[in-house]
Amino acid sequence: MHLLIGKDIDDGNMFRIPCDKSQRVLVCGKTGTGKSYTMGVLIEELANIGEDIILVIDPQGIFWTMTQPNEVAKEIDSLWEFDREAKGFNLNLMVPGDPVERYGGEDVVEEMERRGPKIQGLRLNPSDLSPEMWCELFNLDINELQGSMLFKAVRTCYRKLGHDFLLDDITATVEKMRGLDKTKEAILRKIEMAHDWQLFEESRYREIWEILLPNAVNVLDLSVIAQGRYGLRNLVVAVLANFIFRMRTIARRREELGLTTDVKKVWIFIDEAHNFCPSGSSTLSKEILIRWAKEGRQPGLSLVVASQQPSALSAEVLTQCGIRIVHRITSKADYRAINALSQDFLPDDLQSYIKLLSSKGQTLIIDDELEKMVQVQVHPRQSAHGGASA
Ligand SMILES: Nc1ncnc2c1ncn2[C@@H]1O[C@H](COP(=O)(O)OP(=O)(O)OP(=O)(O)O)[C@@H](O)[C@H]1O
Ligand SMILES: [Mg+2]
Repeated sequence: MHLLIGKDIDDGNMFRIPCDKSQRVLVCGKTGTGKSYTMGVLIEELANIGEDIILVIDPQGIFWTMTQPNEVAKEIDSLWEFDREAKGFNLNLMVPGDPVERYGGEDVVEEMERRGPKIQGLRLNPSDLSPEMWCELFNLDINELQGSMLFKAVRTCYRKLGHDFLLDDITATVEKMRGLDKTKEAILRKIEMAHDWQLFEESRYREIWEILLPNAVNVLDLSVIAQGRYGLRNLVVAVLANFIFRMRTIARRREELGLTTDVKKVWIFIDEAHNFCPSGSSTLSKEILIRWAKEGRQPGLSLVVASQQPSALSAEVLTQCGIRIVHRITSKADYRAINALSQDFLPDDLQSYIKLLSSKGQTLIIDDELEKMVQVQVHPRQSAHGGASA
């Protein structure tokens, strides 16, 4: 099975990427060169096959337009060359918190739904975060007073209540603990703040898995929460990725034992990925994404990361990307980051090839496994591409 990406610019042949095994793909290039568009093409191709679960991490809120067919006449015209037609896709739009509140009104949600996507609020369970993650969320050191108290409180909740606890249970546990009043108050204020984020389940434990749909493109719209001090976007990604990793590890074992499982393989697409697994600094989602990139092949987890700044992406993720779809790059640091991944089969003057890329959707695709570098014009989208500026 293959994803049709576009046409080899030299010989006009179709260019495809195999998708029957897990892949790690980097999509890079300077702003406006077509990274999100190309990622959309990959998503559409995968959705057309319909075998794996697709999860799109969408920091700009642009992918929900995939429910609509492409309406750009020039693009529709050349779709036939690729045996594709303009069409919209089934889409499950996951919105952290309450969609009506996040989108600013019931009429907005209704109007969006009229255009196709199923819109669901996504809430995290407090138990989806390990005690360490709770401390990291608030930048607390486990060896200091506040950190150690919060760590113990969350651990106590786990011990007593399993996965089924709410923020109020953490509060009640902290209140019963011995310790300085000042430390307690500081932690209680933080839990209070977590209530205000409206990101957590308030009534019952709900498996995040329940909201991912196997027959739709699952889009997590992170544009509705500010990146902000507490890295809430990273938190949501970390929880989802951790959960999927766990589920797929169990499923893989079942598959190997010949037992049935209904947990399909998963592809995660991350736009603006340098925000989630940056080089240098640490974020809540970095560790799991590195693990996904490094150890996710066996459980059937694929990764596609897009970034205009590959030099700002964690090298541990970057070096795992055996397929690199390079759009035009002009920054030296970013060129260096790509060149650092160079293999023997690549020409010494890679830079001159990258400089030659001009029009939108023109790419250089480097495939380490096939030891090939091909200039590819990415084919038009079947669905409407979002993200044009106002
Ligand atoms: N393969 C293509 N065919 C036709 N048009 C394209 C193609 N790729 C990109 N474009 C056009 O280029 C524009 C910019 O593309 P896109 O939004 O994907 O850029 P980007 O690299 O993601 O930019 P940013 O870094 O700002 O997010 C799109 O609106 C689209 O119209
Ligand atoms: Mg983009």
